[in-house]
Amino acid sequence: MATDPSSSVNTDLLQQPLQPDEDETDSALGDDLSTLSQSIRSSMYDYHYENGRRYRAYGKSQYLLPNDEAEQNRLDLLHHIFKMVLHGELYTAPLESSNMQRVLDVGTGTGIWALELADQFPSATIVGTDISPIQPEWVPPNCHFYVDDAETAWIHNEPFDFIHGRALCGGIANWPEFYSEAYRNLKPGGWMEMQEHECWLNSDDDTINQAPWCKEWIENVDIASTRVGKRLNVAHLHRQWMIDAGFVNVEEQVYKIPIGSWPKDKKLKEIGRVQWVQMIEAIPTFSIAYYTRVLGYSLDQAQIMVEGVKSEFLDKKLHLYLRWHFVRGQRSPS
Ligand SMILES: C[S@@+](CC[C@H](N)C(=O)[O-])C[C@H]1O[C@@H](n2cnc3c(N)ncnc32)[C@H](O)[C@@H]1O
Repeated sequence: MATDPSSSVNTDLLQQPLQPDEDETDSALGDDLSTLSQSIRSSMYDYHYENGRRYRAYGKSQYLLPNDEAEQNRLDLLHHIFKMVLHGELYTAPLESSNMQRVLDVGTGTGIWALELADQFPSATIVGTDISPIQPEWVPPNCHFYVDDAETAWIHNEPFDFIHGRALCGGIANWPEFYSEAYRNLKPGGWMEMQEHECWLNSDDDTINQAPWCKEWIENVDIASTRVGKRLNVAHLHRQWMIDAGFVNVEEQVYKIPIGSWPKDKKLKEIGRVQWVQMIEAIPTFSIAYYTRVLGYSLDQAQIMVEGVKSEFLDKKLHLYLRWHFVRGQRSPS
């Protein structure tokens, strides 16, 4: 999806109390891994269908987000918002293009980030891995996708200059182990960047307390994902995990991403509008399996909750936002 550079935002504004627009009335809105991957097992495509959504094969992982076309469309929209926040950029790490030979995108999803990076660095090799084979078949020669579980030992025959992960919450049980594998697979001086949204809703004017469906939703999803052993709301923990794994020069930027066109600032309004669409898709994505499989709700009960949260996202009196974290760190150069 192309990004309109004019849609980038003044990121300073995303760190201050968000100002609502009082006038707003509109309410609509090639390595060892390659050898492994060549023996493509049919089990990779052994999908599990449940409540009208497609998931990775049931029992193979406790990843409870779907991987169907609707989810892939949501991921591409999310990519667009990440780029709006970063002024059209794909990363915040101070990369030197002359040093970029090998890049790993862990949990690459549709591969959209990896494909764009491959375009930006045509002489680098970009490797994207994921537990679901939902990446395109036709890719530039410097981009390679493999099915691989980041919760097992990372098998790469050469280290990377840059390792990137985005929106991986709910996919990893043991984050310290994840960061230690990442560190091991970086060249000395190489960079790691994690871009992650919180799975928690906030407001600067206390209007979150007028949103009972939303409050119940985030609390239940936190309880359910913690019970599964892969907590969703971990964005605020990455910085310390990175430091604990031995990364140096660790820096974090935290931005407030509004839901809806309620902010006063024009660019924030634009981000909020796109984020609203993304969030409407995200409610069932982040709910149905957690509510039905883990919390024991019937599908009807889960859908009533989804509609309740949607109705509050439509209410312009509520000034809700999520915090997004951009954390980067470096493997010690020596
Ligand atoms: C919310 S999506 C984000 C995709 C992509 N990073 C992006 O930002 O567009 C999370 C992805 O992580 C993948 N994933 C979850 N657990 C994983 C694991 N243990 N190893 C590798 N990929 C995983 C999922 O299959 C999914 O494609």
